[in-house]
Amino acid sequence: MKNLNGRVVALTGAASGIGQRLAVQLAGLGCQLAIADVDEHGLQQTMALLPDGIKVSSYTVDVANREQVYDWAEQVITEHRQVDCVINNAGVASMCSIENTRYEDFEWVFNIVFYGVLYGTKAFLPYLKQRPDANIVNISSVNGFFPFPRNGPYNCAKHAVKALNQTLIQELRNTNVSVTSVHPGGIKTNIVRNARFSEENAELIDKPSRVQQFDQMAKTSADKAASIIIRGMRKNRKRQLVGADAVILDILCRLMPQRLSDLVGVAHDRSRQGA
Ligand SMILES: NC(=O)c1ccc[n+]([C@@H]2O[C@H](COP(=O)([O-])OP(=O)(O)OC[C@H]3O[C@@H](n4cnc5c(N)ncnc54)[C@H](O)[C@@H]3O)[C@@H](O)[C@H]2O)c1
Repeated sequence: MKNLNGRVVALTGAASGIGQRLAVQLAGLGCQLAIADVDEHGLQQTMALLPDGIKVSSYTVDVANREQVYDWAEQVITEHRQVDCVINNAGVASMCSIENTRYEDFEWVFNIVFYGVLYGTKAFLPYLKQRPDANIVNISSVNGFFPFPRNGPYNCAKHAVKALNQTLIQELRNTNVSVTSVHPGGIKTNIVRNARFSEENAELIDKPSRVQQFDQMAKTSADKAASIIIRGMRKNRKRQLVGADAVILDILCRLMPQRLSDLVGVAHDRSRQGA
């Protein structure tokens, strides 16, 4: 989808971080926007950042709720008459070992990160197929191809998103709908601030220090991430890495998958001993 001017983009997770910057940049390129999030106040903040003269509709939608996502898709068609692109971006994480993760936290992450993307894809696909050319952009992560310790639910859900994307790419070959699987590295957003930290592991995983560690480690701004994702969309890329750390990790995974996993495991053990 080279030319974005006048295209209608449905975007989830638009109240913060990467989603908010995607909304601002897409509006700047002349897209009509249908933005959605659970955070109503954050959506209002995003609306205030958008230029005048662009048609924008804003919806409070919980992407984990299938009915709400399908209702939203219908409302978007009623309001904008068409949809050319869906960006399934909303996401959450939980920080805990698999042994100590509560099932409710596993389900919370899976329902938003995987099922939210599945519902968004299936709800919009019939409308996307009616357009001359259309895009599905589903945000996975580097955790979608390389798992990190104490991130089990997120690792599993993001791997599932990658598998969903790869399946869609195969199944939608030779149609008008392109699929882009997006894999960001560390991006400076609220993802860790908004994450759940398991109670029983509080002495090992202290939230303020993890947030601080993440803020230092994440080198790519949300604005830069959004511009890389839009470039990938415009080129109909099947796979888009975001950030130098994602590119390096991808290379290391290909060169020495088990060695890399062992090294990350050792670093994890050392950080536990130092905790
Ligand atoms: N920040 C990173 O380092 C990083 C790395 C890889 C992938 N990602 C992915 O990028 C995407 C955007 O995350 P971000 O980093 O901008 O984080 P963020 O926390 O700043 O934004 C996530 C947005 O999703 C919304 N959201 C959460 N649950 C929702 C629900 N049930 N329904 C609707 N909206 C919901 C939040 O309200 C928030 O506005 C996520 O899928 C995340 O997993 C982020």
